Amino acid sequence: MRRGETVRFHIDNSLPEGATVHWHGFELPAAADGGPHQLIAPGERWSPSFEVRQRASLYWYHSHLHRGAGPQVYAGLAAPIYVRDDEEDRLDLPSDYGVDDIPLIVQDRMLDKSGRLIYPSGMHAQMMGVRGDHMFVNGTQNAVFEAQSSRLRLRILNGSNARFYNFSLEGNRPMQLIASDGGLLDRAHSIRSLKLAPGERAQVVLDLSEGRPLRLIANSPENGMGMMGGGMMGGGMMGRRNDAGSSEQTSKILDIRPAGSASALPLPAQLASLTPPDPSLAIRTRRFVLDMGMMGGGMSINGATMDMNVINERVPVGQWEIWEIANASMMAHPFHIHNVQFQVLDRDGQVPPPLETGFKDTIVVNPREQVRVLLRFEENTDPDLPYMYHCHILEHEDAGMMGQFVVV
Ligand code: C2O
Ligand code: CU
Ligand code: CU
Repeated sequence: MRRGETVRFHIDNSLPEGATVHWHGFELPAAADGGPHQLIAPGERWSPSFEVRQRASLYWYHSHLHRGAGPQVYAGLAAPIYVRDDEEDRLDLPSDYGVDDIPLIVQDRMLDKSGRLIYPSGMHAQMMGVRGDHMFVNGTQNAVFEAQSSRLRLRILNGSNARFYNFSLEGNRPMQLIASDGGLLDRAHSIRSLKLAPGERAQVVLDLSEGRPLRLIANSPENGMGMMGGGMMGGGMMGRRNDAGSSEQTSKILDIRPAGSASALPLPAQLASLTPPDPSLAIRTRRFVLDMGMMGGGMSINGATMDMNVINERVPVGQWEIWEIANASMMAHPFHIHNVQFQVLDRDGQVPPPLETGFKDTIVVNPREQVRVLLRFEENTDPDLPYMYHCHILEHEDAGMMGQFVVV
């Protein structure tokens, strides 16, 4: 998509069950959002249309079926979206799709002996989220990329249901972080590891000028209660123990084979001009407390479980607000808000890390932590049709860690 154009989709549901298609990261009319209220019945067509208002970046679409997003995304109803714009085109960044600019959709799956997908149900899977023992990148195991250029841009989407990843290059080599969910950062940051929770995206540029092969790997930190680690992953995975002695899993994500050595152009000193978020603009603060209850039985936000018939928040259009998200549970939750790209003010009062200095639509809130974001809904009012905010661990979303807001 290109910023400024109007797009229309025709989505035919040929599944034997209802489905929805949500445009994650986009500002659009609630009727086009593709959330739980835009159900496409079996055999029906849905034709949403919207103007692309987003900055150039990597976005995605996925199922948002009420109480059924987890299994549908797991089965394949998810894919990336590139948005381009003039501002980014003016910069000399790798942008030749499939050549020096590639998407990496990272997903874990559980397979039976014949290679069929297993979607585990039951209390443990619902509470911890569904995590697989095989890694897939763009639907492929053991992915290899034969590079032709001296710089390679990776647009990484954590499209997993529940697994968090900490990406790095083998040998601890640096990567240049250039973008977060909602587009370019103000400048590139040299990083050696990159954490992404489900729903989050980031873009990095790798220097291949030495002509040496590179391997992108990821370990998967435990999330909560010490119950999620353990077990090695199959298919090229290496078991490891971290310093704390708890087991972590390291997975191979992508092998990159450069064609040969060549000189690489440096990145532009400035990528975008971003205005730092100013909390004094805010007219009000809304607080959201995420909680899980005992044994995953009470997934909730502000004590309420998702109810399709309840509008939890009414948000006036055009007014700056601070949304303060607190986590009362023992697990980290990636909190996602529809119809907006927000800026992070602070994380427990501390300045956010580089990935959180740009625009975001999904933000991790660690146990006992509080994150404040600044946002404003600029148009698209509808007093009746709500947007969602929710945890992007899909099993938590399906179990009710979600709420509804209208923009009025
Ligand atoms: Cu990526 Cu409400 O979803
Ligand atoms: Cu979304
Ligand atoms: Cu959660």
